Amino acid sequence: MSRVLWAALTVVLLLGAGLWVSGLVPHCCGARQAPSRAEAALARRLRTWSLPADARQRPNPFASSTEVLQESARHFADHCASCHGNDGGGNTEMGRNLYPPAPDMREAATQQLSDGELYYIIRNGIRWTGMPAWGEPGNDNDQDSWKLVLFIRHLPKLTADELRDMERFNPKSDADRKEEKEEEDFLKGGPAGDQAPKSR
Ligand code: HEC
Repeated sequence: MSRVLWAALTVVLLLGAGLWVSGLVPHCCGARQAPSRAEAALARRLRTWSLPADARQRPNPFASSTEVLQESARHFADHCASCHGNDGGGNTEMGRNLYPPAPDMREAATQQLSDGELYYIIRNGIRWTGMPAWGEPGNDNDQDSWKLVLFIRHLPKLTADELRDMERFNPKSDADRKEEKEEEDFLKGGPAGDQAPKSR
């Protein structure tokens, strides 16, 4: 390229950089603005393309059944709900505040992904996001992950009873457990604290 062209290019780049830092143009890549729809769609496309082609086509070796769904729902409650919520809506403190946030997996964008793609995402996580990789590496056919795929498919039809069951499997802190125990003891009229009538 000739020197003139290089010079022109440098000027354009400098001007661009100047505008960028000046704040006169809205910043494209800050974490405070949601990405435009086109940007989000492009990112998803790129992600799909980055998967090995055969990974997308892998069929789920399990079929959905009440037992499989109950098992995977409990697994989800234990490992995934802190970000995704029991209902998959992503409306948890952690899920909302990650960037990008945890998506509502009941929506078409997630439901349209193939079983193989969901499995691959669960196994490998999503780079540059809060979505971690699950399960030990090397195990190419992880039963738990395939069952979680079935649970994700079931999310749009989750019932209130199923949600209640899941709550029992959400991780609890020691403080939660202590509080529950105190409540239980109090209701039983047992050794719980001050309000329990003392026998003389
Ligand atoms: C620490 C928070 C966190 C945990 C725990 C977590 N995820 Fe995620 N997950 C995310 C975030 C954030 C995204 C969105 C990433 C993105 O926008 O590309 C995501 C995306 C996904 C997606 C892709 C959805 C889509 O439409 O692109 C699937 C599937 C998924 N998670 C499944 C799971 C499962 C199953 C578990 C539990 C084994 C789990 N996640 C645990 C944060 C988490």
